[in-house]
Amino acid sequence: MKLLFEESRPGRGECLIPVCDVPEYALDPACLRSSAPRLPEMAEVDLDRHYTALSKETYGVNCGFYPLGSCTMKYNPRVNEAASSLPGFVQIHPLQPAETVQGALRVLYDTEKLIAEITGMDAMTMQPAAGAHGEYTGLLLIRKYHETRGELAQRTKIIVPDSAHGTNPASAVMAGFSVVSIPSNPEGGVDLQALKNAVGPDTAGLMLTNPNTLGLFDPNILEITKTVHEAGGLCYYDGANLNAVMGQARPGDMGFDCVHVNLHKTFSTPHGGGGPGSGPVGCKAFLAPFLPSSRVREENGKYSLFDPEQTMGRVRSFYGNFLVVVRALTYILTLGRKGIPEASEGAVLNANYMMKRLSEYYTMPYPQPCMHEFVMDIGPLKAETGVNAMDVAKRLLDFGIHPPTMYFPLIVHEALMIEPTETESQETLDAACDALIQIWKEAHEQPEMLHAAPLTKTITRPDDVLAARKPILKYLFDEN
Ligand SMILES: Cc1ncc(COP(=O)(O)O)c(C=O)c1O
Repeated sequence: MKLLFEESRPGRGECLIPVCDVPEYALDPACLRSSAPRLPEMAEVDLDRHYTALSKETYGVNCGFYPLGSCTMKYNPRVNEAASSLPGFVQIHPLQPAETVQGALRVLYDTEKLIAEITGMDAMTMQPAAGAHGEYTGLLLIRKYHETRGELAQRTKIIVPDSAHGTNPASAVMAGFSVVSIPSNPEGGVDLQALKNAVGPDTAGLMLTNPNTLGLFDPNILEITKTVHEAGGLCYYDGANLNAVMGQARPGDMGFDCVHVNLHKTFSTPHGGGGPGSGPVGCKAFLAPFLPSSRVREENGKYSLFDPEQTMGRVRSFYGNFLVVVRALTYILTLGRKGIPEASEGAVLNANYMMKRLSEYYTMPYPQPCMHEFVMDIGPLKAETGVNAMDVAKRLLDFGIHPPTMYFPLIVHEALMIEPTETESQETLDAACDALIQIWKEAHEQPEMLHAAPLTKTITRPDDVLAARKPILKYLFDEN
């Protein structure tokens, strides 16, 4: 596809700008550019076609199956969009006086109460803009807690299992801690003995996802959180996988002190293009005084903003990604007390259905029943046929299916991680299983074909390392 600059023709870019109806202001000449910007010049129809063609090159949940493990790419009901587009929500300003935005404040307040109930927490902030940002905020809560007890100098370590999402150790370091990685046991859970060896007077806390990134619920969870608490540390729950347990089990009841949830996954906001996301953080009452500023409270039916007594300050401008919160509230209210647990049941059922069908062909390194996602190990297939996880993922594109997460979690070397989500029908799951089974057969019959896959796409195997290391982010004009 040609770029806009390549489609541009001089003189074609006539555009109608309304006549200026305010007095002109003479800018400082030092701020003026010396030549006109080289903007592409095109007719409106060509511009429209360009962007329409571009939109057809993209792939989203609305195009087809998107089983990207750990990302919960589920269908986002249209009603959420309708609610978040209401003029009363989009045409307000964050600096408006509280009495003029009572509805918006109530959205923040009600969503906080509902997510606190779902996670078993006492208080929340809606400020963090994504999951990793929530992790960082939660760790700052833990930091503040140790600081006020005069133990921060001593409690410098955060324990993170080796199956953790990469953002966990990164957030711990950003928050000023060092990371102690502990191994998983053969069943994929936390190695209890390794945890007991790791905790001590230097433990600030533990970060854990449950179910973890292998899609497994840790049956020792109560003992894990007790071990950390007995050592004087706090427990942080990475709630990015809450889609597996919402309405069934609560991090607060598992012994966690604080948690973030990804509204852009579990609570149904479109994501994947870099945002906007939202990673609200919840905590137990004893951590609430440290929460970020600008929380909402209600008194006699009136909503107002306040700063917690020992607030850590702001972690983001204003109140977070407000319209994502509107979508989450709409989603929770439309599903209700009955629908929330049904959604997680569906997510777990769909993952187990696919896992069972595929386990006749592919190796499941953790064959016990999974939660909302499962990991396949392509290692044995590679040893037999030379076809690796990348080849299988690339070939799926020819079947119109978005590839699963690849090479993650790191503890399974040729991992493909599949998360079907609850919003897919049995027909869709069967079609994906059929495609993966056919790919397994092709791996045995014509492996070379898989090394060259995808066979039907314009872009096949770009050099992703080069693209990341030397990105070309601006158009290079041909000066001749
Ligand atoms: C388990 C887990 N934790 C944390 C995150 C980070 O969330 P975000 O991408 O919103 O920063 C993710 C995202 O994929 C995740 O899967």
